[in-house]
Amino acid sequence: MLRELAARIDEVRTRWEEESGRVSSLEELEEVRIRYLGRKGLLTGLFAVLRELPPAERAEAGRLLNELREEVQRGIERLRAELEAAAEAERLRREAYDLTLPGIWRGVGKLHPLTQVRLEIERIFMEMGFDVATGPEVETDYYNFEALNIPPDHPARDEWDSFYIDEGLLLRTHTSPVQIRVMKSRKPPVRVICPGRCYRRDTPDATHFPVFHQVELLWVERGLTMAHLKWIIEEFVRQFFGPGYEMRFSADFFPFTEPSAQVHIRREGGPWLEIMGAGMVDPAVFREVGYDPEEVTGFAFGLGIERMAMLKYGIDDIRLFFQNDVRFLGQF
Ligand code: PHE
Repeated sequence: MLRELAARIDEVRTRWEEESGRVSSLEELEEVRIRYLGRKGLLTGLFAVLRELPPAERAEAGRLLNELREEVQRGIERLRAELEAAAEAERLRREAYDLTLPGIWRGVGKLHPLTQVRLEIERIFMEMGFDVATGPEVETDYYNFEALNIPPDHPARDEWDSFYIDEGLLLRTHTSPVQIRVMKSRKPPVRVICPGRCYRRDTPDATHFPVFHQVELLWVERGLTMAHLKWIIEEFVRQFFGPGYEMRFSADFFPFTEPSAQVHIRREGGPWLEIMGAGMVDPAVFREVGYDPEEVTGFAFGLGIERMAMLKYGIDDIRLFFQNDVRFLGQF
């Protein structure tokens, strides 16, 4: 009996040695483990036979069986350690970074120079206590012209004739209509700036483009004079440009301001560039929005953002802003 069992033990050992030698993955190892040590495994089967042996033979048979079981258990542990180490080495190899590879270059975008300049203008005036208001780019004839004291047959319309969407609707030619919208919705005192895009039927050249940007300013309360207007503009120009610039006021005409002025700026020695129209709000405009011109006075200006940027950065052609060439845009 013992001899018979010993022979079967040897058989299982031979088979184990052969099968364990072929194991090449942790999954296969687990299958092998179950085949030998599992509940219905080969070794478990032999332990069942052990119980049927005569007591005198059981000790020796038990020793032989335990020897084989330990061999199998050690073998499984060893294989598991080897396979896990190999898997880890493979993972590290796969995840390794080649630190000598050059990186992937991704261009980082930045704000358009006109946006940068607009934000800077807004910052300066907000620090002076103005808030920012906006209005629609598609505007009615009433807000763009009529309410600004420009009746249908007024010659000032020629200069501002624009892109009409239909009879009474056009792309606004300036940001001044936002003045009207603000005054109609607020009581004085009013202190706002209104940045935005404008459109004119202009032929493009170095200083004109049919699409451009303005910042409108409006200050209404009791007792404002031309001196306040001049001070605000001087202070703004000083903050925006710093030293090395000259400013020039001269008389102009706008139907919605009286008196009216235009302001030119130049870099010392450079050519003069008109940057804004300005003036004291015309009493007719106050009456139109329901303000009493005997009670309040005010002033306004409309500033060209492109021209501010051109003067600040020494850009000599307005068309560059709209060509979207990153070699140009990337410089600001
Ligand atoms: N709206 C005028 C223009 O576009 C500028 C302006 C604004 C003039 C406010 C006076 C007061 O030319």
